[in-house]
Amino acid sequence: MDDPVDLSENRSYSHWRVRKLRAYPHDINDLRVPVERLDRPKPAELAALKTRIDTFNMALVEAEPDRIETEALLAFTRALGLHTTDANLFADASAVSRITATRRNPDEEGHLDAGPAPTGGATLGDFIPYTDKPLSWHTDGYYNAPDEQVGAWCLFCIRPARHGGENGLIDHEMAYLRLRDESPEHIAALSHPQALSIPAHVRDGHTLRAESVGPVFSLRNGHLHMRYSARARHVIWRDTPETQAARAALDRLFSRPDVFTFRYRLGPGEGLISNNVLHCRSGFDDEDDPAKARLLYRIRFLDRIVLD
Ligand SMILES: [Fe+2]
Repeated sequence: MDDPVDLSENRSYSHWRVRKLRAYPHDINDLRVPVERLDRPKPAELAALKTRIDTFNMALVEAEPDRIETEALLAFTRALGLHTTDANLFADASAVSRITATRRNPDEEGHLDAGPAPTGGATLGDFIPYTDKPLSWHTDGYYNAPDEQVGAWCLFCIRPARHGGENGLIDHEMAYLRLRDESPEHIAALSHPQALSIPAHVRDGHTLRAESVGPVFSLRNGHLHMRYSARARHVIWRDTPETQAARAALDRLFSRPDVFTFRYRLGPGEGLISNNVLHCRSGFDDEDDPAKARLLYRIRFLDRIVLD
């Protein structure tokens, strides 16, 4: 097995590592690809997107703001091989979530910072993506069942906030690389099948979402997958010194310049498409008028973007 992210494969890892590092540093604007019609992306546009996604696991799409609507987004993502959506309660029938602040100050209990899939009893304001609060580093769907992990997502901006609402983005392969350089033991600890547990979401005696137990790093269909949340509450890390050390090293990554963090505030018509890279969001001030308030469309997929 010649797998670069296998800890026993030092030679293929070092080749992969060299190739990966050769692409960095890079500016977010170099990841930008204009797409004239989201509902009918041209072969050259798709090729330009795939080149960036192949290298960085993400691309920045520039589209016409008035072309961003549900069917066009689904046609666009289908053209990139994304077919299986991770539908949640707040998605419409086509699994497109409208991310907007509900302007409610939610209570602490029951928060999950990337929007789990509750059924009944929960309101949008219970979930931090639907507020104006900062959103800590995570990959999407870390609370999903092991066989329903999120492989890719897109996030398109209809209207930005008045101030703030900037995203931070780190290619999860680069996070893996820096951690493995620091110590392969960090990778071993974070690849343990019980490394990170998210307790069940229970409300009024009803289990709205089952407990999720799994590794941070895993290999899925030959690709590195990362399942992570930096939040301190409602997460349980495996109780070993190795796990604690790996978790601390991961925390430190978010202030290291050599993981090449992209920071960007999406403007109208702009979107991110990624193989579920690490991301965070700053808090924001918004317009009071809901018709002018920050609005983004998001779709999550169980597939990864198909590159060939
Ligand atoms: Fe997210």
